[in-house]
Amino acid sequence: MLCSLRVLIKKLMVITLFFALLVSNTSTCDEDNAPIINYKTRFLPEVGKNGMVVGPEKLAAEVGLSILKGGGNAIDAAVATGFALAVTYPRAGNLAGGGFMLIHHEKDKRQTLIDYRETAPLDSRPDMFLDESGKIDRSRTYFSHLAAGVPGTVAGLIMAHARYGSLPLKAVIEPAIKLAEEGFPVSYALNYEINARAKRLAENSEAASLFLTAEKLAPPIGSIFKQSDLANTLIRIAENGAAGFYRGLTAQLITQEMQTAGGIIDSEDLMRYEAVERSPLRQTFKGYEIVSTPPPSSGGIHIIQMLNILEQLDLQKMRLNSAKYIHYLAEAMKHAYADRSKYLGDSDFIQVPVTELISKEYARTVGQQISPHRASPSETILPGVVQSHESPDTTHFTVADSLGNVVTNTYTLNFSFGSHIAVPGTGLLLNNEMADFAARPGVANAYGLIESQANRISPGKRPLSSMSPTIVMQNGSAILATGSPGGSIIITTVLQVILNSLVFDMNIASAAAQPRIHHQWLPDTLRVEPGIGPDTIDLLKQMGHNVTTSRRTLGRTQSIALKNGWLYGATDTRRAGGHVASY
Ligand code: DON
Repeated sequence: MLCSLRVLIKKLMVITLFFALLVSNTSTCDEDNAPIINYKTRFLPEVGKNGMVVGPEKLAAEVGLSILKGGGNAIDAAVATGFALAVTYPRAGNLAGGGFMLIHHEKDKRQTLIDYRETAPLDSRPDMFLDESGKIDRSRTYFSHLAAGVPGTVAGLIMAHARYGSLPLKAVIEPAIKLAEEGFPVSYALNYEINARAKRLAENSEAASLFLTAEKLAPPIGSIFKQSDLANTLIRIAENGAAGFYRGLTAQLITQEMQTAGGIIDSEDLMRYEAVERSPLRQTFKGYEIVSTPPPSSGGIHIIQMLNILEQLDLQKMRLNSAKYIHYLAEAMKHAYADRSKYLGDSDFIQVPVTELISKEYARTVGQQISPHRASPSETILPGVVQSHESPDTTHFTVADSLGNVVTNTYTLNFSFGSHIAVPGTGLLLNNEMADFAARPGVANAYGLIESQANRISPGKRPLSSMSPTIVMQNGSAILATGSPGGSIIITTVLQVILNSLVFDMNIASAAAQPRIHHQWLPDTLRVEPGIGPDTIDLLKQMGHNVTTSRRTLGRTQSIALKNGWLYGATDTRRAGGHVASY
């Protein structure tokens, strides 16, 4: 009797335990369903529902968000963020640089690209950066007034706003004016970034007066940083649109500075500058559609080309960042950059065999040349034979609104703080984008890239870029938008974020956080970030790769993923100051 009572009690306990487990399991399931994803990963994205801006600097991202909250669409917010970054993020945010803005319009399921890349001034010449012995004069190429291309940013932002924005122009520029006029507290990141370039900035008296203290240092953290000339330059744009920059006082101040200091940009260059709306490139990848930059950027072509090559392999089976996986990535990268060195330039000036380079058929022929076991030395990899049948410190931010519109934008002065030359009376830093041309074909540029005649300097031509704002589409809607700074590294950075997301099914924060690798054909070096294990590196070396652990991190992405009506944002943790603003 006593025994059967004990059995009954035991049975009751088991049943109670079972229900307790069931209840606790239900709560775990609830967590899985919540937008914060789950606890299966060490990296979690920020989550938003109605709008999101992901960028390299907090105040500018918040400006974009305030525009979304005030009823602006993603394009209004992107333009406002672009102007604000010119104030709060002077190392790369800019008015006198250039870039590419990729837009997805959800309503008509259409993507378009605004190309506002700088152009070579009308007085430029192919040999303008060579010394008497025919060598590239690096100082003239990077840090002189001649280094500046005709700025495109203002034309690009104004075009985007005029064609696709919904708020008045003044409303989207006003926050930037306020930040410049009233100032803002210097962040750790801004202080660090200015100090890193203080020596060079000190060489230009106008730049020094804008960015340095009397001791030639960055303004202290927490001090208020005001830019009254820049505020006035922005006011002229708010009042007169692009003409407020390319004509009138700002244009006069730029051309005056050029004349006194040996530059060649003149009023005609400024008046003639035009942003161009282009069709982005598109190709499928494992059932998704990749939409990215056409020439004069090389980014879209090579991202698609590498995805085409890699699509033929079972990457999932190889596992992320195994030696085999990295081997295939590196080999695909070598072929892409070899092709870049021969075929790429501004397609308004030369014929770029775009269709062939992004075709699945071409990728198959390249794929056949890749050994599964051995690295091909770069000197044995020649640009592919494709026949053309057709005519012819950068920063990134990404915006999504509640309607499903997405804007992903990369723009730059080229180097951090561009040429380090400021135009008196304007608050503007000049870009040094002429350095992206092949000053001497066959000789490496600042990013170690080898380029051909296709990227020679010619008046009005746009220098070849690697900027790669990219959107991934599924069933006509955007599911991922990303981009990065990093010169030649931009292309391989964006590639790996796409692979991590689409092949390895990672949330966007994890996709951004994984250690990355980079190979650009020449130099024949496989750069890996810390985090790629020593055993993997040994295996790669045994396969014949020249592996070096990169001293610097590779790229800095700003991304948004869109899923089930939620927005997931990730600012790359590789550098300080980035921010996801959302609501
Ligand atoms: O257009 C390009 O490819 C280069 N001017 C980009 C420069 C860059 O990303 C520098 N940032 N780290």
